[in-house]
Amino acid sequence: MTLNTSLLSNYQSEEVWLPFSESILEWDIDFHELMLGDRIRMAAYKKAIQEVVKPGMVVLDLGTGTGILGLWALQAGAKHLYAIDVNKDILAIASENFAQNGFTGKYDIFHGMSYDIDLPTQVDLIISEIMGNIADNEDFVPILTDAYKRFLKQSGIMLPSKVCSKLVPISSLKAHQQVQSQKVKRINANYSIEKLLQRLASQSPFDTYYDAIIPGTSYLSTPQVAKQFKMDGNDKAVYETNLTFIVEVDGIFTGFKGSFSASLSDSVTLDISGSDIASHTTSDSWKHCYLPVKSPVKVKQGDEISLVFSRSYPEQKDSQFRQCYKWNGTIKSQGKIINAFYQSMENENSIN
Ligand SMILES: C[S@@+](CC[C@H](N)C(=O)[O-])C[C@H]1O[C@@H](n2cnc3c(N)ncnc32)[C@H](O)[C@@H]1O
Repeated sequence: MTLNTSLLSNYQSEEVWLPFSESILEWDIDFHELMLGDRIRMAAYKKAIQEVVKPGMVVLDLGTGTGILGLWALQAGAKHLYAIDVNKDILAIASENFAQNGFTGKYDIFHGMSYDIDLPTQVDLIISEIMGNIADNEDFVPILTDAYKRFLKQSGIMLPSKVCSKLVPISSLKAHQQVQSQKVKRINANYSIEKLLQRLASQSPFDTYYDAIIPGTSYLSTPQVAKQFKMDGNDKAVYETNLTFIVEVDGIFTGFKGSFSASLSDSVTLDISGSDIASHTTSDSWKHCYLPVKSPVKVKQGDEISLVFSRSYPEQKDSQFRQCYKWNGTIKSQGKIINAFYQSMENENSIN
């Protein structure tokens, strides 16, 4: 497959993009090419798969897409591969890839959501890359919990084996202005901010997250862990996390940067928080998660930003992949509340 290179490296710091993970069921080849060209993603997964896959293993590639991770597993000596994806057109590419690489007879393709699929045997290893830029925004918790319980042998391995999301308050008026004016980038014409807001039943562009590279120079404090996932069948998809950040540099608080790091193998950790586009420490496809607040707030060293960050599902789920994050809290200066923020992906009006 030849990559559409115009999609790669074609982004700048603090440039706001529509959230990739909110349109999973519409991903076409452009989205998959962007992922296939994501240097840190591809290098980390390739190295980890070569390290973890042992000859003779039966492997499941859950959410195989174009089949690249499953292909690497077969090339590393997997005895048999099961490949599942809900996207029929992309799955056809995976099938072609496995056959063209000489693996006919060594793989089975399953079309549909993993919940609805039964495999002929349990597997030694489940490989997946269904993480969003704040870890669980492609709903990996229920999907991988179900897969862990039904598909994995007792001695089996999950790749990734641990994932953690992080949040930090930021000062980026540039990113904030793009959200305010609704002038955000998109990777193809089928996906627009109007369509996104309509789907979320939201009036405010501040009540959703975005994709953007947010540099370390924008941090107002030190990043903190928002949630840890152990991939052991017990992770929670619905939760609330309380964090307090002490402002370390004066600035204008405009929201939070979210990111994740994932343990893919003993020696490979994929961390998407890097922000140096020129030296390729950034992820070309995930970027970072930008959770904006509606009203920017001037803050100074020593102020406190308290955050309640939560994840839930909407009352009426219009798609398998619909989720709601909320980020609300207060800003205190010398012990007194000076401002508050309240943003929510649930169908309710934001206040502030
Ligand atoms: C981020 S892409 C990764 C594709 C490929 N594994 C790669 O690394 O290039 C995730 C893929 O998983 C599929 N997917 C996500 N959750 C799924 C589920 N529960 N069942 C089946 N397919 C799923 C999506 O359709 C998409 O093709």
